[in-house]
Amino acid sequence: MKNNGMLAHHRPQWKTNLGFLFAAVGSAIGLGNIWRFSYLCYKNGGGAFLIPYLIALITVGLPLMVLELGLGHKMRGSAPASMASVSKKWEWLGWWQVIFVMFGIVLYYSVVISWCLNYFFFSFDLGWGPDPDTFFFKDFLMVSGGPHQIGHLRTPVVFTLLLIWFLNWIIVFKGVQKGLERANKIFMPLLFSLTAVIVLWSLKLPGAKEGIMVYLKPDFSRLKDPHVWMDAFSQIFFTLSLGFGIMITYASYLPRKSNIVKDSLAIGFINCFFSLFAGFGVFAILGYMSQATSSPITEVVSQSIGLAFVVYPKAISLLPYFSRAFGVIFFGILVIAGLSSAISITEAFTSSLIDKFHYPRKAVTSVLCVFGFLGSIVFATQAGIHWLDIVDHFLTQYGLVVGAICECVLIAWIYKAQRLRQHINHYGDWKLKFWWDMCVRVISPLVLIFIFISSVAEELSVSYGGYSRVAIILIGRDWLIYTLFVAIIVASHPWRSDPKERMLASE
Ligand code: TRP
Repeated sequence: MKNNGMLAHHRPQWKTNLGFLFAAVGSAIGLGNIWRFSYLCYKNGGGAFLIPYLIALITVGLPLMVLELGLGHKMRGSAPASMASVSKKWEWLGWWQVIFVMFGIVLYYSVVISWCLNYFFFSFDLGWGPDPDTFFFKDFLMVSGGPHQIGHLRTPVVFTLLLIWFLNWIIVFKGVQKGLERANKIFMPLLFSLTAVIVLWSLKLPGAKEGIMVYLKPDFSRLKDPHVWMDAFSQIFFTLSLGFGIMITYASYLPRKSNIVKDSLAIGFINCFFSLFAGFGVFAILGYMSQATSSPITEVVSQSIGLAFVVYPKAISLLPYFSRAFGVIFFGILVIAGLSSAISITEAFTSSLIDKFHYPRKAVTSVLCVFGFLGSIVFATQAGIHWLDIVDHFLTQYGLVVGAICECVLIAWIYKAQRLRQHINHYGDWKLKFWWDMCVRVISPLVLIFIFISSVAEELSVSYGGYSRVAIILIGRDWLIYTLFVAIIVASHPWRSDPKERMLASE
């Protein structure tokens, strides 16, 4: 439709504020909340880790959540459109974020969801057998010797992957209200109630108390280690979907009268509370397992992937009753949590293409999901787990952090935090105070720059995960560089409509 010679923009809108909150919480709560958080807590001083975690939430997590939601709400656009509205020169940043998340993070993330789906089916007859370790690495993934030995595709993974991308496609295809909002209105209550069942069930098991003690017993001496602080800050980013371009897009579908501050606090606290709560279940089960096998809990805990696909299956097989049901619920939770995060980036990318090129949603989603599925196949080979490890490290440790530093510079300095604060305060009932400007102008960028420099210094001294330098450079670093190139090329294309026009049309 034409409007003053320009293409008018029909922006979808959430039906209810609760629908928006469910979708945003659905994006935030993902695989990372369930095992990554628990493992980090364990590794970084138990209950003492909650101190840096809460500090990270308050000083960086929540202020940046307000910034992203405020930006999307003000500009009424996806990440690239919103950034282009601030300055055409910075449009690449929005594209880079959605591109490396869509064609990076979500490619391997959906492979992990597909493993969870396989394990969901295995749970019906405890198909991992008596030795889950050998089962997972040798029989299921048939892991090769290193990232250079690709081997062949793992058919069971490819099949479930197809199903995951199909679900992803159908939800985003149906649009904001009928797809995302409706799906999350089913997913979130289901996720919360199933998690409550699992946690309460685990707490009743013998040995659960000892497990919880290990989880929460604070070891304050660990707070002297800078790694503990770096882990807390990068976890806050990943878990709140910050620097992904997702929250900007989701907020662009909000009505004008919206309480950005209240919504940001709700998303942040619900997400972190969920992590804390799920951790009780994870550690209760570990406590039970350590008692059942008479081995100390330190020998039972393992890192993220091992925790879900080796330790948990072992524990499930050991359960005294209803072990199959427990397995089905546990892996079901992981699939729901993962899928509701994966759809959020597909939406953010779809929305970016619609904003810029005015392509029809259905065509965009269909093409995107086909490419997404094909891209994911890279991680479904026998070398998949090595690739996943390297790409995950680079994209989450550097991509998200660099993107967020640029976001702070662009919004808090170039656009000016104060202007965005005035906008947020104009429409919302909960008012932001001056200290928010300080957080996004000074504290957040300084903390992020510190994390970035420390990570680079460490990277140069020890090769990540013991992989060869060639693998690290070709797979990890280059992934970021190539996506940046693509982003710059896409950003240099002309707009089919003026991004500012879209914003004014809806004022
Ligand atoms: N917050 C999610 C987690 O903790 C991660 C996530 C959010 C994500 N959005 C995403 C992963 C989009 C992949 C794609 O696990």
